[in-house]
Amino acid sequence: MTEDLSKFNAAQAALEYVKDGMVVGLGTGSTSAHFVRQLGERVRQGLRVKGVPTSEATRNLAEQVGVPLLEISQVTAIDLDVDGADEVDSAFRLIKGGGGALLREKIVAAASKRMVVIADESKWVETLGAFPLPVEVTRFGFALTQTRVGEALRTSGCAGGEVVLRISGKANEPVITDGGNYILDAHAERIPDPEALAVALKNIAGVVEHGLFIGLSQVVILGKAKGADVKQ
Ligand code: 5RP
Repeated sequence: MTEDLSKFNAAQAALEYVKDGMVVGLGTGSTSAHFVRQLGERVRQGLRVKGVPTSEATRNLAEQVGVPLLEISQVTAIDLDVDGADEVDSAFRLIKGGGGALLREKIVAAASKRMVVIADESKWVETLGAFPLPVEVTRFGFALTQTRVGEALRTSGCAGGEVVLRISGKANEPVITDGGNYILDAHAERIPDPEALAVALKNIAGVVEHGLFIGLSQVVILGKAKGADVKQ
């Protein structure tokens, strides 16, 4: 309950960064959902923005609450991206993809002039890695890719090396992303060198994208039970 209020407060603080006429990247997850709902309220009050959703779930929500949308193919640049995170460190490096939307989230973040991260304060960590790192992989050959991802964890100095195929609780089948791929959750436990791990993962055939977001965010808003702490 407090966590949800903190997420709401982070989302509310991010509205400050939205200006009339902007194209805004709309993140995925429960914190981003608060933002999309609040943005919808502002649109009803007259704010003119266009959103670029990072998942089908966010697209559906944005349509429900009346945020006008653009396809990613219709934009050359995005003014502002507002998205959640699973972990954030003091260098504003993130783990994302807990909701499985990391590929579209990273494409939108990379196309944005500014990324504002919204999260409850529990997401702020000294070292990334306690939250399993999501890695989106092709279905073809995923078991081989899984082994390579485990090797990348070890060679880049991570404490853990277990890599698990994400299974949907409901269907008891592998989770399929919006891009039609699988997600591996890499239990690194502690990532001492996120940059090195990011390079190692990108070099593996079969890895479509990973959830380390490095050098992409400029503002981090940590929501609290009362208000929010803005870091930039
Ligand atoms: C989805 C994400 C989310 O931003 C991340 O999982 C945080 O989610 P929440 O706001 O529900 O805590 O990366 O792919």
